[in-house]
Amino acid sequence: MPGLFDPWSIGQLELQNRIIVSPMCQYMALETGEVTEWHVVHYGSMALGGPSLVMVEATGVEARGRISVHDVSLYDDVHVGGLRRIVDFVHQQGVKIGVQLAHAGRKADVPDPILAPSAIRFSDHYQTPLEMSRAHQEEVLTAFRAAALRAIECGFDIIEIHMAHGYLLHQFLSPFSNQRADEFGGSPHNRARFPLQVIDTVKKAAANRIPVGIRVSATDYVSGGYNEADMVQFCKAFVDHGVDVIDVSSGGNAPIAPPFYPGYQVPFAGLIKRAVSVPVIAVGMLDDPLLAEHVVRSGETDAVAVGRGFLRDKHWGHSAAKALRAAPRVPKPYERAYL
Ligand SMILES: Cc1cc2nc3c(=O)[nH]c(=O)nc-3n(C[C@H](O)[C@H](O)[C@H](O)COP(=O)(O)O)c2cc1C
Repeated sequence: MPGLFDPWSIGQLELQNRIIVSPMCQYMALETGEVTEWHVVHYGSMALGGPSLVMVEATGVEARGRISVHDVSLYDDVHVGGLRRIVDFVHQQGVKIGVQLAHAGRKADVPDPILAPSAIRFSDHYQTPLEMSRAHQEEVLTAFRAAALRAIECGFDIIEIHMAHGYLLHQFLSPFSNQRADEFGGSPHNRARFPLQVIDTVKKAAANRIPVGIRVSATDYVSGGYNEADMVQFCKAFVDHGVDVIDVSSGGNAPIAPPFYPGYQVPFAGLIKRAVSVPVIAVGMLDDPLLAEHVVRSGETDAVAVGRGFLRDKHWGHSAAKALRAAPRVPKPYERAYL
């Protein structure tokens, strides 16, 4: 099995190693959604730190779909120039860069009325959302299409559609948040209908110029939600609709904390990997380089996304290479670390 520093590819996108900077909201954009010099330094410095791919944080496709009013955005042409500067800088370092397109749905903390599959608020902190009409759905599809076209204009190498962490598309997938009585609610087939329309829309906009991935939450961790076996079935349908890579996270649709420990989401990635024909990415407390190396070599995942590790050490990739040179054989206890 290949290791952390072996090349791989997502569709036609060739990557020099299996380290990805995980998308992480920084809430540092202007209220207009524009990025600043701060973002060039933030993403640029992580690009210099040894990953093959840097993912830009959850990026709003609609103003009312932002997690906060300081989200990086692609809902307007005004957002293209700033992001293109980041893309160009990262490319000059020989590193690839992608963007995560997101709609927060009922987890949008914005002044405008917010949307969700059903009028169920996430918690007291949030507004009660409007139950989306067909017209709202068309607006959101149009927004995803326009944002995807802008992402391509910026020069991004890959688009990831955010379907995880309790945001809009996760809300549709889960019976915990989707209690609709129409063809977008009820059976898993119906709950996947709108997320699949978003995939179709973004894939069509990308027109095979760049790959399109998704980030999913493998389980809701709550009764009344879905679990990892349900997600395997969803992922098969997503791949049938052309998804090129699946980035496997968990939780976020209910205000509870999952059980965190090193590599806690790796078994979900393995489960999905065995069921689909496209590469998967594991994430979550994989910033111990020996553990990251082990999970890639175990074949449970094709690559790892590292989040907080890169915030703490912007050169995490180089630090990992150094650690692996010092310990070329991953010690035995790592084989049980995430079981
Ligand atoms: C500050 C911060 C912001 C995050 N923002 C996003 C985001 O925009 N999109 C996303 O899918 N996950 C987001 N996450 C989750 C991370 O991408 C990652 O999945 C999580 O932190 C677990 O990986 P880690 O243990 O390597 O940090 C965020 C995490 C942190 C710590």
